[in-house]
Amino acid sequence: MEELRSIIRDIPDFPKKGIVFKDITTLLADGKSFHRMIDLIAHRYIGQKIDKIVGVEARGFLLGSALAYKLGVGIVLVRKPGKLPYKTLKKTYDLEYGTDTLEIHEDAFQPGERVLIADDLLATGGTVTAVVELVEELGADLVECAFLAELDFLKGRDRLPENKVFSLLHF
Ligand code: PRP
Ligand code: ADE
Repeated sequence: MEELRSIIRDIPDFPKKGIVFKDITTLLADGKSFHRMIDLIAHRYIGQKIDKIVGVEARGFLLGSALAYKLGVGIVLVRKPGKLPYKTLKKTYDLEYGTDTLEIHEDAFQPGERVLIADDLLATGGTVTAVVELVEELGADLVECAFLAELDFLKGRDRLPENKVFSLLHF
Protein backbone atom coordinates (compact mmCIF):
# COMPACT_ATOMS: atom_id res chain seq x y z
CA MET A 1 0.00 0.00 0.00
CA GLU A 2 2.88 2.36 0.84
CA GLU A 3 4.15 1.81 -2.72
CA LEU A 4 0.84 3.00 -4.18
CA ARG A 5 0.81 5.98 -1.82
CA SER A 6 4.32 7.04 -2.71
CA ILE A 7 3.81 6.88 -6.47
CA ILE A 8 1.17 9.67 -6.26
CA ARG A 9 3.04 12.97 -6.53
CA ASP A 10 2.27 16.38 -5.00
CA ILE A 11 2.07 19.41 -7.29
CA PRO A 12 2.12 22.59 -5.19
CA ASP A 13 -0.05 25.55 -6.24
CA PHE A 14 -2.10 23.66 -8.86
CA PRO A 15 -4.64 24.61 -10.13
CA LYS A 16 -4.53 27.60 -7.74
CA LYS A 17 -2.05 29.02 -5.25
CA GLY A 18 -2.28 27.23 -1.90
CA ILE A 19 -3.67 23.92 -3.27
CA VAL A 20 -1.39 20.89 -3.12
CA PHE A 21 -2.67 18.79 -6.00
CA LYS A 22 -2.45 15.00 -5.72
CA ASP A 23 -1.34 13.91 -9.19
CA ILE A 24 -2.42 10.31 -9.82
CA THR A 25 -1.20 10.21 -13.43
CA THR A 26 2.04 8.64 -12.19
CA LEU A 27 0.09 5.77 -10.62
CA LEU A 28 -2.14 5.33 -13.68
CA ALA A 29 0.87 5.18 -16.00
CA ASP A 30 2.44 2.35 -14.02
CA GLY A 31 0.74 -0.89 -15.11
CA LYS A 32 1.49 -2.82 -11.93
CA SER A 33 0.21 -0.04 -9.68
CA PHE A 34 -2.96 0.51 -11.72
CA HIS A 35 -3.71 -3.21 -11.67
CA ARG A 36 -3.07 -3.46 -7.94
CA MET A 37 -5.22 -0.42 -7.16
CA ILE A 38 -8.21 -1.85 -9.05
CA ASP A 39 -7.79 -5.33 -7.57
CA LEU A 40 -7.58 -3.97 -4.02
CA ILE A 41 -10.69 -1.81 -4.37
CA ALA A 42 -12.69 -4.44 -6.29
CA HIS A 43 -11.87 -7.06 -3.65
CA ARG A 44 -14.05 -5.18 -1.15
CA TYR A 45 -17.13 -5.44 -3.42
CA ILE A 46 -16.81 -8.92 -4.92
CA GLY A 47 -19.80 -10.95 -3.68
CA GLN A 48 -21.83 -7.84 -2.77
CA LYS A 49 -24.95 -7.06 -4.78
CA ILE A 50 -24.01 -4.14 -7.00
CA ASP A 51 -26.03 -3.30 -10.10
CA LYS A 52 -24.12 -0.31 -11.42
CA ILE A 53 -20.99 1.76 -10.93
CA VAL A 54 -21.30 5.53 -11.22
CA GLY A 55 -18.10 7.14 -12.55
CA VAL A 56 -17.45 10.86 -12.03
CA GLU A 57 -15.81 12.87 -14.86
CA ALA A 58 -12.96 12.80 -15.53
CA ARG A 59 -10.56 10.88 -13.29
CA GLY A 60 -13.46 8.89 -11.81
CA PHE A 61 -14.10 7.37 -15.24
CA LEU A 62 -10.72 5.63 -15.14
CA LEU A 63 -11.32 4.05 -11.76
CA GLY A 64 -15.02 3.47 -12.41
CA SER A 65 -14.73 1.70 -15.74
CA ALA A 66 -11.95 -0.64 -14.57
CA LEU A 67 -14.00 -1.50 -11.46
CA ALA A 68 -17.16 -2.05 -13.53
CA TYR A 69 -15.27 -4.41 -15.83
CA LYS A 70 -13.78 -6.31 -12.90
CA LEU A 71 -17.17 -6.63 -11.13
CA GLY A 72 -19.01 -7.44 -14.38
CA VAL A 73 -21.52 -4.59 -14.05
CA GLY A 74 -22.41 -1.50 -16.10
CA ILE A 75 -21.15 2.03 -15.61
CA VAL A 76 -23.23 5.22 -15.53
CA LEU A 77 -21.49 8.50 -16.38
CA VAL A 78 -21.76 11.64 -14.29
CA ARG A 79 -20.46 14.41 -16.53
CA LYS A 80 -19.60 18.09 -16.60
CA PRO A 81 -22.33 20.30 -18.17
CA GLY A 82 -23.43 19.96 -21.78
CA LYS A 83 -21.76 16.61 -22.48
CA LEU A 84 -24.59 14.12 -22.00
CA PRO A 85 -26.91 13.82 -25.02
CA TYR A 86 -30.21 12.76 -23.39
CA LYS A 87 -32.39 14.51 -20.72
CA THR A 88 -30.38 15.15 -17.54
CA LEU A 89 -30.68 15.97 -13.85
CA LYS A 90 -28.10 18.61 -12.72
CA LYS A 91 -26.39 19.72 -9.48
CA THR A 92 -24.07 22.64 -8.83
CA TYR A 93 -21.54 22.21 -6.02
CA ASP A 94 -18.38 23.65 -4.44
CA LEU A 95 -15.01 21.92 -4.59
CA GLU A 96 -11.54 22.62 -3.13
CA TYR A 97 -10.71 25.09 -5.92
CA GLY A 98 -14.00 26.47 -7.25
CA THR A 99 -17.56 25.52 -8.20
CA ASP A 100 -18.84 23.21 -10.89
CA THR A 101 -21.97 21.49 -12.18
CA LEU A 102 -22.52 17.78 -12.81
CA GLU A 103 -25.19 16.01 -14.82
CA ILE A 104 -26.57 12.49 -15.10
CA HIS A 105 -29.08 10.98 -17.55
CA GLU A 106 -32.48 10.99 -15.91
CA ASP A 107 -33.15 7.37 -16.95
CA ALA A 108 -29.80 6.08 -15.62
CA PHE A 109 -31.29 3.63 -13.07
CA GLN A 110 -34.18 1.27 -12.48
CA PRO A 111 -35.88 1.96 -9.11
CA GLY A 112 -33.92 0.40 -6.22
CA GLU A 113 -30.81 -0.44 -8.22
CA ARG A 114 -27.74 -0.74 -5.98
CA VAL A 115 -25.07 1.71 -6.96
CA LEU A 116 -21.38 2.14 -6.14
CA ILE A 117 -19.98 5.63 -6.80
CA ALA A 118 -16.31 5.69 -7.90
CA ASP A 119 -13.94 8.64 -7.98
CA ASP A 120 -10.19 9.09 -7.66
CA LEU A 121 -10.11 11.49 -4.73
CA LEU A 122 -12.21 12.69 -1.80
CA ALA A 123 -11.25 16.25 -0.82
CA THR A 124 -13.99 18.58 0.56
CA GLY A 125 -16.69 16.08 -0.42
CA GLY A 126 -18.54 18.68 -2.54
CA THR A 127 -18.38 16.61 -5.71
CA VAL A 128 -19.42 13.30 -4.25
CA THR A 129 -22.21 14.87 -2.17
CA ALA A 130 -23.68 16.21 -5.42
CA VAL A 131 -23.34 12.76 -7.02
CA VAL A 132 -25.03 11.05 -4.05
CA GLU A 133 -27.94 13.52 -4.39
CA LEU A 134 -28.24 12.80 -8.12
CA VAL A 135 -28.21 9.03 -7.52
CA GLU A 136 -30.79 9.19 -4.72
CA GLU A 137 -33.09 11.60 -6.58
CA LEU A 138 -33.19 9.08 -9.42
CA GLY A 139 -34.42 6.36 -7.04
CA ALA A 140 -31.26 4.23 -6.78
CA ASP A 141 -29.80 2.84 -3.54
CA LEU A 142 -26.29 3.94 -2.55
CA VAL A 143 -24.03 1.03 -1.58
CA GLU A 144 -20.88 3.08 -0.94
CA CYS A 145 -18.61 5.76 -2.38
CA ALA A 146 -15.18 4.34 -3.29
CA PHE A 147 -12.05 6.45 -3.72
CA LEU A 148 -8.45 5.77 -4.51
CA ALA A 149 -7.41 8.46 -2.03
CA GLU A 150 -8.84 10.73 0.66
CA LEU A 151 -7.48 14.02 1.99
CA ASP A 152 -8.37 13.36 5.64
CA PHE A 153 -7.73 16.91 6.84
CA LEU A 154 -10.55 18.29 4.64
CA LYS A 155 -13.07 16.03 6.41
CA GLY A 156 -15.09 15.34 3.25
CA ARG A 157 -16.40 12.09 4.73
CA ASP A 158 -18.30 14.03 7.40
CA ARG A 159 -20.63 15.30 4.65
CA LEU A 160 -21.50 11.79 3.51
CA PRO A 161 -23.84 9.18 5.01
CA GLU A 162 -22.06 7.29 7.81
CA ASN A 163 -20.37 4.00 6.80
CA LYS A 164 -20.75 4.76 3.10
CA VAL A 165 -17.18 5.85 2.33
CA PHE A 166 -14.19 3.69 1.44
CA SER A 167 -10.79 5.09 0.52
CA LEU A 168 -7.86 2.86 -0.32
CA LEU A 169 -5.27 5.48 0.64
CA HIS A 170 -5.26 8.33 3.14
CA PHE A 171 -3.25 11.56 3.15
C1 PRP B 1 -11.46 16.28 -8.56
C2 PRP B 1 -11.52 14.82 -8.15
C3 PRP B 1 -12.86 14.73 -7.47
C4 PRP B 1 -13.02 16.10 -6.84
C5 PRP B 1 -12.77 16.03 -5.38
O1 PRP B 1 -12.16 16.44 -9.74
O2 PRP B 1 -11.41 13.97 -9.27
O3 PRP B 1 -13.91 14.50 -8.39
O4 PRP B 1 -12.07 16.97 -7.46
O5 PRP B 1 -12.91 17.26 -4.76
P1 PRP B 1 -14.01 17.59 -3.67
O6 PRP B 1 -14.11 16.42 -2.74
O7 PRP B 1 -13.49 18.83 -2.99
O8 PRP B 1 -15.30 17.86 -4.38
P2 PRP B 1 -12.11 17.75 -10.67
O9 PRP B 1 -13.40 18.49 -10.49
O10 PRP B 1 -10.84 18.48 -10.45
O11 PRP B 1 -12.21 17.13 -12.12
P3 PRP B 1 -11.34 16.17 -13.05
O12 PRP B 1 -11.50 14.76 -12.53
O13 PRP B 1 -12.04 16.37 -14.35
O14 PRP B 1 -9.90 16.61 -13.05
N1 ADE C 1 -9.63 17.51 -6.15
C1 ADE C 1 -9.89 18.38 -5.17
N2 ADE C 1 -8.81 18.68 -4.47
C2 ADE C 1 -7.79 17.98 -5.04
C3 ADE C 1 -6.41 17.86 -4.75
N3 ADE C 1 -5.85 18.52 -3.75
N4 ADE C 1 -5.67 17.05 -5.53
C4 ADE C 1 -6.25 16.37 -6.56
N5 ADE C 1 -7.54 16.45 -6.87
C5 ADE C 1 -8.30 17.24 -6.11
